[in-house]
Amino acid sequence: MNSSNPLIGRDIISISDLTQAEICAVLDQARRFEEQLKGAPIIPLLNGRILATVFYEPSTRTRLSFESAMHRLGGSVISVADARTSSSAAKGESIYDSGKMLESYADVIVQRHPAVGSARALADAADVPVINAGDGIGEHPTQALLDLYTIERERGTLDGLTVVMAGDLKHGRTVHSLAKALAHWKPKLLLCAPQALAMPDDLIAELRGQGLIVIETENMGAALAQADVVYVTRIQQERFETVEEYMRYKGIYVLTEPAVRAAKPGIVVMHPLPRVDEISPDVDRLPNAAYFRQARYGVFVRMALLAMVLGAV
Ligand code: NCD
Repeated sequence: MNSSNPLIGRDIISISDLTQAEICAVLDQARRFEEQLKGAPIIPLLNGRILATVFYEPSTRTRLSFESAMHRLGGSVISVADARTSSSAAKGESIYDSGKMLESYADVIVQRHPAVGSARALADAADVPVINAGDGIGEHPTQALLDLYTIERERGTLDGLTVVMAGDLKHGRTVHSLAKALAHWKPKLLLCAPQALAMPDDLIAELRGQGLIVIETENMGAALAQADVVYVTRIQQERFETVEEYMRYKGIYVLTEPAVRAAKPGIVVMHPLPRVDEISPDVDRLPNAAYFRQARYGVFVRMALLAMVLGAV
């Protein structure tokens, strides 16, 4: 165990709970795991430890990369894949009761839930570390960490970049957490969204209060011309009241191959995935397309988080 690990026993609920130094400690540990995995498929630091994954909303990457990360560290996983319908929540069990029970089944819990604040509620109940894998339109802190890892890995730095965030910035929890996380490195943020799907005002005010330049625009072309990184998000269909309302915004921004070619050379194209239609498949063949690498980096970052909260590094 290393005394420079600041996360032992901690919950990871909001990215704002972590200082810049703590974020850097996670990224450094992820880098060490990425290196070590070149020589061995497993780094058995968490032998005998158990991760519970409890997902009340759909997930492919977040759940599987957490589970893969736990296995790569030699630990075991227990899981309720569709907790909404197949756990006791369907019988009316509260998050509190679920937390009280899970703490005796697992050493760490990863939860995704549709309600903002649900991860905090679980952490208040459970005596083991709780990691927020998305609480409705709230936050997705582990995605923000892997997004930072991706930006640093692809650009060589996090400092002073011009970052375009495009799509559903109102409901997209990944951009909420990423904007807060990136703020430590003083980026210029260009937010591209239709007015009805704009980034929440209080978050923009918080970012500006930290001295960031934040510009809201509906003109994706003009924003792209300045961008070092473009982070595209899906219009979050499940957050709309009606299909008609969703259809009004579906397809509003589509990043195409010519648009990427016309941008600054070296622009990094990111997306938390799943993609619907907002990045044309032609972009995939460009070296700028980082989104599948981004998903791979998620394993190293989640290994770092698990090993750190469980005090194994
Ligand atoms: C995101 C999520 O669930 O917030 N997916 C992910 O975790 N990679 C993004 C999304 O669903 O659009």
